[in-house]
Amino acid sequence: MCHDCVAGGRSGASRRSFARFLAAGVGLTVLAACTPEARSGVAPSSSSPAVTSASPSAVAVPSVESTTAAAEPPPPAPVPPSAALPRQFSLTDPASPWLVVNKHRPLAPADYVPADLVQPNVTLAVSGEAALLNSTTAVAAEAMFAAAALDGVSMTLASGYRSYGTQVATYDGYVAARGQADADSASARPGYSEHQTGWSFDIGDGGGACGFEPCSADQPAAVWAKANGHRFGFVVRYPWMQHPITGYYYEPWHLRYIGVEAATDMATRGISTVEEYFGVEAAPGYA
Ligand code: DAL
Ligand code: ZN
Repeated sequence: MCHDCVAGGRSGASRRSFARFLAAGVGLTVLAACTPEARSGVAPSSSSPAVTSASPSAVAVPSVESTTAAAEPPPPAPVPPSAALPRQFSLTDPASPWLVVNKHRPLAPADYVPADLVQPNVTLAVSGEAALLNSTTAVAAEAMFAAAALDGVSMTLASGYRSYGTQVATYDGYVAARGQADADSASARPGYSEHQTGWSFDIGDGGGACGFEPCSADQPAAVWAKANGHRFGFVVRYPWMQHPITGYYYEPWHLRYIGVEAATDMATRGISTVEEYFGVEAAPGYA
């Protein structure tokens, strides 16, 4: 965590300036300052070769001091909306609720397995590993399903955790059925799926209609989850018409836990993608 990465006066960044920031693809640079690695003083790896005293070329290379002294100071880095929250979390640690996985940001390690997978006490439409979530998401899902039921809405857990191996089979199935380009608009490649983290799951409607179909957006479970999910820490991860940012077409069934504070802040600000909220570059396709 990085509790003190937020300086005063940062919360006023407009969405317009932030969209420009995304288009420029510089978001990662900003957030790097809030990663545990940066906080612990571990420098990111550099593509610049090390210059040693034994290198003949070292004599002709200007010193770092002289080059930086002559250079223009960099423009102030845009600040993502998430920086306004008092608690900050890693965007790269798979065990962090703020992990951002997309077509530019694979899981590391690729075969990551959550250490705390559990089966939530909710209505299940699946069994085996697909009925599992990480422990934090499971608790939040139980609260959300219960609240939905109190409102008369029945939802099911239709697909939860997927191991790397399962995602291989899932993605390969899509490719075989629809071709790779179409598969990539609907299914993550192995090592790139949120389902592998335990932070995400797909809901089904208790009425059984429109499973994993676009019309599920109009079923009570998805309508309720879209309006209320933030109260339990969830966002609809792949919103309508945001595929140029998320890389996937609308999935009204796919919920992602990011915590109540962040999900509520996204809803309040009217920000629909985690890429915009956390300030990472858009990922319409694989890099
Ligand atoms: N359907 C989502 C993108 C996944 O495969 O993780
Ligand atoms: Zn999903």
